[in-house]
Amino acid sequence: MAPTLPRFDLKDRSVLITGANRGLGAALCKTILQYSPKIIHAGYRTTPGDFEDPRIQWCQLNIADGESVAAAASSIGELDVLINNAGILIPTAADAAEETANLEAMMDLHLHHPLRLIDTLLPMLQASSQPMIVNMISMAAFASVPGCEGYCTSKAALHAATQGLRLKHPTIQCVGVYPGPTATDMTAGSTAPLADAVESAATIVSGLCEGKTAIFPDEAALAVESLVGAGVATLEQQFTTLLSD
Ligand SMILES: NC(=O)c1ccc[n+]([C@@H]2O[C@H](COP(=O)([O-])OP(=O)(O)OC[C@H]3O[C@@H](n4cnc5c(N)ncnc54)[C@H](OP(=O)(O)O)[C@@H]3O)[C@@H](O)[C@H]2O)c1
Repeated sequence: MAPTLPRFDLKDRSVLITGANRGLGAALCKTILQYSPKIIHAGYRTTPGDFEDPRIQWCQLNIADGESVAAAASSIGELDVLINNAGILIPTAADAAEETANLEAMMDLHLHHPLRLIDTLLPMLQASSQPMIVNMISMAAFASVPGCEGYCTSKAALHAATQGLRLKHPTIQCVGVYPGPTATDMTAGSTAPLADAVESAATIVSGLCEGKTAIFPDEAALAVESLVGAGVATLEQQFTTLLSD
């Protein structure tokens, strides 16, 4: 069982979600609205989502574009919760050069760009009374899935980076979310059983409020947690003291 953090109240908080216009990001956005946040900066790359609320501020944010990141950061003002949700799944390519380029793109989108966004927003997060960073990872961070090895590699890197963030920023609650296959555009055409994005979002947000550090929000993810959850949490704990004293 992963250690728990202090309980978290989303009431009156300022939240930024990347990729909030559709899929799990949109579901998270709508779920968080039920918790009375002050404002949700709902990130979109090209087109805002098709839902409105006075507390939603649509915010153009392409995390791959440094200028877009700087402009979004300067429009935000204050921030308590950053949810790194933007993602892409490019299936494994037969051509080696194409596969290398795809891996680079996914490592950028799932690792380098979220870390750059965190660095940019760090002063605002550190000014919060209870800052939180949430990284949308995947249960596929723990073992590669045939046909999407590059995706799994990039999510494994984000999982390791999330553990690293906890070490580097002990005053920030850093949470990893590990969904299983979920019904969104990302899994269109999949024949695997798919979790419902709205139900998963409800589980994710209640887990954040309970102070969980690792959230496995659906049935497939819970099966992975039962295999590796306790071991991963124990190792992380043990490694924190490995080189101390
Ligand atoms: N669905 C699953 O089965 C599943 C399982 C485990 C983990 N996850 C993870 O959960 C997260 C959300 O997935 P999803 O299923 O909701 O995917 P989705 O429906 O395909 O939506 C992806 C979102 O990411 C945004 N995005 C892509 N590139 C971006 C960029 N450069 N800058 C900003 N936003 C960008 C997209 O914006 P545009 O609309 O502009 O393209 C879109 O809003 C991802 O990190 C994914 O890896 C998903």
